[in-house]
Amino acid sequence: MDYYQAPPQAEFYQYVGNQNEQITNLEYAIAAGGCCSSSSGGCPAPSSKPARSKEKVKEQVREAYGSVAEANDAGEACGNGQNCCGVPAFVDVDYAIKLGYSKEDVESVPEGANMGLGCGNPQAVSEINKGEVVLDLGAGGGFDAFLAAQRVGDEGSVIGVDMTPAMVSKARLNAEKNNYRNINFLLGEIEHLPVANSTVDVIISNCVVNLSTDKLQVFKEAFRVLKDGGRLAISDILSERSLPEHLANNAELYCGCVSGAISVNELEQILTQAGFEEISIEIKEKSREFLKGWYPGTGVEKYVVSANVRAVKPKSN
Ligand SMILES: C[S@@+](CC[C@H](N)C(=O)[O-])C[C@H]1O[C@@H](n2cnc3c(N)ncnc32)[C@H](O)[C@@H]1O
Repeated sequence: MDYYQAPPQAEFYQYVGNQNEQITNLEYAIAAGGCCSSSSGGCPAPSSKPARSKEKVKEQVREAYGSVAEANDAGEACGNGQNCCGVPAFVDVDYAIKLGYSKEDVESVPEGANMGLGCGNPQAVSEINKGEVVLDLGAGGGFDAFLAAQRVGDEGSVIGVDMTPAMVSKARLNAEKNNYRNINFLLGEIEHLPVANSTVDVIISNCVVNLSTDKLQVFKEAFRVLKDGGRLAISDILSERSLPEHLANNAELYCGCVSGAISVNELEQILTQAGFEEISIEIKEKSREFLKGWYPGTGVEKYVVSANVRAVKPKSN
């Protein structure tokens, strides 16, 4: 298979943020407490490195998901297996069904691709047609990308981008072992997509944009790579009311897809600023049922909710 060759680390991480950026309490908390690290299993001990910039936060997120991928490779659980930054030791079909997938979806993808890290099913709200080019932002183990690959068929193709090397290796291995010829997993950041301008029909993403420290840049990049008339269809966590301080500054909740969430209004503004039109944001009230299990006892389901987000890059003429 013709895989994209990731540039060496030094070159790849040339997009470092401004080290003098203002540091929030949350960023300090992430450095002090580490991400996704409260529970046992294959998760690492919290990092004690001090945060210096938003780039540092990104590093912690990458570290957290690297541990999740490694635990999953080893057949171990990591953290709470029922939230976006933890994996159970075995595939949890019921959880996937709560997110909006069918049992057939779960059974149709390579083993290890469905890690239960999403917060919805972006393809349930996106039309994906045979022959199209689909891009999955933060593809993880590749669950949504493999489903999309089945939908676009041999005439189409799917690109999965993820910044965590262990996730990309895992997804590539699965593609190779299972003979997927229409899919490529690339190492890269969604703020700096390794994808050419105006080449993608549909962008999907599942529980990833909330993790970005520069969401406007993510959507500017999405806009750049979409063809005219291209569609965006993502599932993500949005904030409905401000988190109390002790939750807002909890490092684990950032990597766990809670405290990085923005509001519907903010998202609408960012999408508009990036150039998108026909924006639709559908709050999924039912998601509170599974959100309750993400951080039991914290009440996060009262503050954040899962949503389906759709938007279109207008045709230029
Ligand atoms: C919650 S997991 C979701 C994975 C996958 N979408 C799924 O549903 O199984 C978040 C994924 O996004 C990746 N990620 C987080 N921030 C990213 C960024 N700025 N650029 C690229 N990938 C990112 C992580 O490495 C991780 O694999």
